[in-house]
Amino acid sequence: MNIDVVTIILAAGKSTRMKSALPKTLHPIAGRPMLGHVLDAVGGNKAASTVLVIGPDMDNVAAYAKNITPGLTIAIQQSQRGTGDAVKAALPQITASSGVALVIFGDTPLVRAETLTSMVDACTPDTPIVVLGFEAADPAAYGRLVLDAKGALAAIVELKDATAKQRAITLCNGGAMAIRLEHLEKLLGQLTDKNRAGEYYLTDVPAFARAAGLGCTVVTAPEADIQGVNSRADLAAVEAEMQNRLRTRAMASGVTLSDPNTIYLSADTIIGPDVTIGQNVVIGPGVKIASGVTIKPFSHLEGGIIAEGAQIGPFARIRPGSDIGRDVHIGNFVETKKAKVEEGAKINHLTYIGDARVGARANIGAGTITCNYDGFNKHFTDIGAGAFIGSNSSLVAPVKIGDGAYTGSGSVITKDVSPDALAVERSKQFEKQGWAASFRAKFLNQKKGSN
Ligand code: UD1
Ligand code: CA
Repeated sequence: MNIDVVTIILAAGKSTRMKSALPKTLHPIAGRPMLGHVLDAVGGNKAASTVLVIGPDMDNVAAYAKNITPGLTIAIQQSQRGTGDAVKAALPQITASSGVALVIFGDTPLVRAETLTSMVDACTPDTPIVVLGFEAADPAAYGRLVLDAKGALAAIVELKDATAKQRAITLCNGGAMAIRLEHLEKLLGQLTDKNRAGEYYLTDVPAFARAAGLGCTVVTAPEADIQGVNSRADLAAVEAEMQNRLRTRAMASGVTLSDPNTIYLSADTIIGPDVTIGQNVVIGPGVKIASGVTIKPFSHLEGGIIAEGAQIGPFARIRPGSDIGRDVHIGNFVETKKAKVEEGAKINHLTYIGDARVGARANIGAGTITCNYDGFNKHFTDIGAGAFIGSNSSLVAPVKIGDGAYTGSGSVITKDVSPDALAVERSKQFEKQGWAASFRAKFLNQKKGSN
C-alpha cells in the first residue's frame, strides 16, 4: 500500500521504575540501545518521516537517534503528562495532512517491522484507528482492550480505571496505535486528564473515535513481541527474548551453537556459515566472524574481525581493534587488543598482544607480553612473519622483531631484533656441582643433633 506514514516514537517518559541516570531507551539490549531496535523496526517499515518525542533533558537520546536515522525530527514534551500529551507534542513536526500516524513506544523494542506494516495496512478510511493488541498470559498493568458485541474495539481501559470485569480481560494494549492523519488532531484535542493517573491517555482515542462514528480495529502480535520495558526485571526478560531471536537466526544461517542458551550474541554480530561456537561464549558489539571459524568455550569477544578458519579459545579474550587472520590459533588466556594477527600465526597460551602486528606464521610462546603502555602513551610492537618469540618474553614497545627472528625464553626485549637473528636478554646460567646434596646434608645433620 502506498500511503504516507509518519512514525511517532514516544520516549519522553521519566522511567522512574528503572531507577537509572541513563534514559530508559538508551539501556542496551543485545549490545544496542533499546531505541536502536525500535528504529530498526521503523526502518523496515519505510516510514515517510519519523518524529521522536523526548523529555527536556534527553539530548543524549536525540543525538543517538539522529545518528541512526539522520532525517528524524525531535519533539520535546516539556512535562510528562501522559502518552496522549506526548503525541500532541509531536504535532508541530508533522507536515502531512493525509496518510497515517503510527505511534509506537520507545520502550517496546521487540516489536517487528511486519507487525507495524500490518497496522498501517489495516488503517483505512473505514477503520482509521488500529490498535496493536496481544493475548497476555498475565495482563498485569497493561491497558485492557474492550470489544463491543460485534467484536470491534470499543475502548481501551487502563488498569487503574478498570472495573473488576474489565480487569479480567486478557486482550491487552501492546502500546502501538495507527491513526489516519485527517482525524489525529481532533481526537487528541478531546483527551482529558480526568482519570486515576491524572494523565492524558493516548488510550482514550478509540472511545472518542467510536463516539464520532469512526471504526476501530485491533491487529494482534505474539506476546513475546510486545513486552515493554518498565523495570530492570523487564529489561532482563526482553534481553532473554532478544538473545533467543539472535540464536535462532544464527543457527538458521548455518552456525552451530553447542549450547545455545549459554551463548550471548549482539544485535550487530555477523557470523558466517559453518562457524562453531562452544558453550559459554559472550560476543559483544562489533564482532564479525568469517566462515569455518571455531570459537571454543568460555571466550569473550568484542570489536574484532575473525577471518576464515581461525580457532579462538577456550578462554580467549578478543578486544576492540583485533584483526585475526586466516587459520590463526588463539588459545587459552590470550588477550588481543588493537592487534593485527596475520595468517597462520599461533598465540596459544597466556599472552597479551596489544597495539601490535604479529606477522604470518609467527609463533608466540606462552606468557609473552607486549609491554605497550608507559603510563602515558601506547606504543607499537611489530613482530615479523615467521618470528619465534620464546616463552615468557616481554616485548617493550616500541620495538620491532624482524622476519624469522628468535627471542630467547624469558628475555626482556627493549631493542629491535634483526631478521633471522636470535636475541637473548638474561644472565648466564652457572652450575655448582654437588651443591644441593651438601646443602641437604648440612640441615639433616643439624636435625639429628637436636633430636
Ligand atoms: C502504556 C499504555 C498501556 C499499554 C502499555 C504497553 C497508555 C496510557 N497506556 O502503559 O495501555 O498496555 O503502554 O506497554 O498509553 N511517554 C511519553 N510521555 C509521557 C508518558 C509516556 O513520552 O508523558 C512514553 C514513555 O517514554 C514510553 C511510552 O510513552 O515509551 C509508554 O509510557 P509508559 O508510562 O511506559 O506507559 P505504560 O504504563 O507502560
Ligand atoms: Ca511502558
